Amino acid sequence: MRHILIIAAALFAADVQAETPRDFLTRFEKEAGAVASAERGARFFTTKQGGEWSCASCHTERPMQAGRHAKTGKAITPLAPAANAERFTDAAKVDKWFRRNCNDTLNRLCSAQEKADVMAWLLALK
Ligand code: HEC
Repeated sequence: MRHILIIAAALFAADVQAETPRDFLTRFEKEAGAVASAERGARFFTTKQGGEWSCASCHTERPMQAGRHAKTGKAITPLAPAANAERFTDAAKVDKWFRRNCNDTLNRLCSAQEKADVMAWLLALK
């Protein structure tokens, strides 16, 4: 009986933590209070915003393929969920890297709208 409870608790915990790429789109759209635009996301991702890099500098303009860190040359696995099932499944990781990469790229945080737009575009890539 105790084993069953432990297994049930583990399943429940896994369920609570599991997130899908769609969950992030929903969350950012809700935070922005507006619908996302994949087209705007593509433009945002592939153009420099005043800094030295764009998102595409490391993730490429077609994130279905692997990228490469613009400074260290280290390989980066594809960012698009259709090409990489591990992407956008862990809120702590997603939040950490949006924070860090937006700061590196824009010298500020990305807005909820910008994150929603990027998510919409990444989800549209097949
Ligand atoms: C200087 C290189 C670089 C730039 C520029 C960059 N990234 Fe990243 N990004 C990384 C690295 C390195 C990781 C972490 C390693 C990994 O997950 O493969 C990462 C991971 C991420 C993740 C984590 C996703 C997940 O669930 O695994 C997101 C989201 C992300 N980047 C979005 C962006 C966005 C949006 C931009 C533009 C604002 C951007 N990145 C610009 C290097 C970069």
